[in-house]
Amino acid sequence: MSDHWVGEATAGAAAAEASRLDVEVWTQSAEETADVGRRLATLLRAGDVVVLVGDLGAGKTTLTRGLGGGLAVRGEVTSPTFVISRVHPPQEEGRVALVHVDAYRLAETAELDDLDLEAFTEDSVTVVEWGDGVAEGLSTSRLRIQITRTPDRVDDNARLITVTTVGSRWLGVPLRSTLVAGG
Ligand SMILES: Nc1ncnc2c1ncn2[C@@H]1O[C@H](COP(=O)(O)OP(=O)(O)O)[C@@H](O)[C@H]1O
Ligand SMILES: [Mg+2]
Repeated sequence: MSDHWVGEATAGAAAAEASRLDVEVWTQSAEETADVGRRLATLLRAGDVVVLVGDLGAGKTTLTRGLGGGLAVRGEVTSPTFVISRVHPPQEEGRVALVHVDAYRLAETAELDDLDLEAFTEDSVTVVEWGDGVAEGLSTSRLRIQITRTPDRVDDNARLITVTTVGSRWLGVPLRSTLVAGG
């Protein structure tokens, strides 16, 4: 093993750890937020993990609904009342499934272990709502999407969507031009 090889491996590990703020998008309606999800879907492939963070009613499920539409998966993406994780198979064979996890009701880490999410992630796109502290173990690379309402804004429908990339998977992926309408 040459020194050169070691150097590259170290740089790769550092890149995998690094997180970058990549894109900020404002939306003015639920439909616009769903559209961000639809656009994001064009970049996603099997094994990808998306972590959604934000208060109740921020728009995490709304964005996931658009994402499911963009991936053309079966079934309506909803906020499950009892179910913590739901698998949406693709409408067409050969496309990826969407695994939608709502970790809001996960009180115990033990419950998460019961979910055995790793069994899904390789063949699917996995979206975890309330995912901080949950999705880290699933994948070294992930997208973290934070949705915030701004209390100082009169317009109650305004949301700021902040996308942060973690890991080498997202290096060079054209997130900004894909997610920003007309961008
Ligand atoms: N710009 C916006 N983006 C997303 N949702 C919005 C927006 N404006 C208003 N809404 C409303 O806010 C609510 C978001 O709900 P939901 O997506 O279930 O949130 P969460 O999953 O984060 O709890 C919906 O009722 C939606 O119609
Ligand atoms: Mg939700």
